[in-house]
Amino acid sequence: MTYKIAVLAGDGIGPEIVEQARKVSDAITKKFGHDFEYTEALVGATAIDQVGDPYPADTHELCMKSDAVLFGAIGDPKFDNNPSAKVRPEQGLLAMRKKLGLYANLRPVNTFKSLIHKSPLKTELVDGADFMCIRELTGGIYFGRPQGRSEDGQTAYDSCVYTAEEIERIVRLGFEYAGKRRKKLTIVDKANVLATSRLWRETAQKIEPEFPEIEVEYMFVDNAAMQLITWPKRFDVMVTENMFGDILTDEASVISGSMGMLPSASIGVHTSVFEPIHGSYPQAAGKNIANPCATVLSAAMMFEYAFGMMKEGALIREAVDKALEAGVVTEDIADGKKAYSTSEVGDWLANYITNI
Ligand code: IPM
Ligand code: MN
Repeated sequence: MTYKIAVLAGDGIGPEIVEQARKVSDAITKKFGHDFEYTEALVGATAIDQVGDPYPADTHELCMKSDAVLFGAIGDPKFDNNPSAKVRPEQGLLAMRKKLGLYANLRPVNTFKSLIHKSPLKTELVDGADFMCIRELTGGIYFGRPQGRSEDGQTAYDSCVYTAEEIERIVRLGFEYAGKRRKKLTIVDKANVLATSRLWRETAQKIEPEFPEIEVEYMFVDNAAMQLITWPKRFDVMVTENMFGDILTDEASVISGSMGMLPSASIGVHTSVFEPIHGSYPQAAGKNIANPCATVLSAAMMFEYAFGMMKEGALIREAVDKALEAGVVTEDIADGKKAYSTSEVGDWLANYITNI
């Protein structure tokens, strides 16, 4: 059987990091005798420049008929510094998530033995931290309407909107994941202030009796932000709304040691998307210095989640661990020692897989 993978490299460092994930996937494919067909498509600022749309219809069509989407990064400073731009690259990512119905973004946070010293947090705090953040991805303030400006331009507004149905499906997923792990679920909200958060809590409390084996706790987001870096080991599965999840997972990346290490899987109604949690890192674009590990580990999640290929995923993780141990790392984690280039890390990983 030939699996179809849509490759959306996007902007900034996107193409460089995705290339390394491709090398690694190719090595896996050869080793295990699989057959994958890759098709590239435009997204983000690159797509705006070429066809005027950050998520063109052709790209969506390709995603819909693919078995998985491997995604790089999106974003360009020429839009960041221009608040009046009519189309923005990020709209492409949001449109893709919405149109593919990707309501759940799974962001596993764990440590790597050889990177523990890289975390700004004390070793005893991070050593052994291992949790899954489940971020709601197609609702909340990112998508709520109305959004805009008053006629005189002096007032701006965003709306945070959630339906009970949207909350229920993601909270359920949280319970199910907790059941497969250490059976502890933390539901993060701001129910002391926000109406949407109160609906989250109410909805979660209704579901709770169906999962008596799961220990549930409710935590305000401000407290969660503090707990994450004071005692991350208390978390097993965390489920939260779109923007809280965005912010908390950038914070959580300091537990792993670098933003360049955190992968994610976005799952839902149609084709799943596998993407690093970091952005397009424009300062590094084209320099062959960015850390490809988050994208490579996203490819590992792709093998596991989209194709049920657990051994393949495990071998990719093993290769990343070995590269870290061997010091074959990019400058963000090189710690004053020799820094390898993006492509050297990719080559090393692919070689490891081929020769093991
Ligand atoms: C992420 C990113 C995106 C988000 C941006 C690029 C729109 O920060 O995937 O975490 O906010 O969801
Ligand atoms: Mn983010």
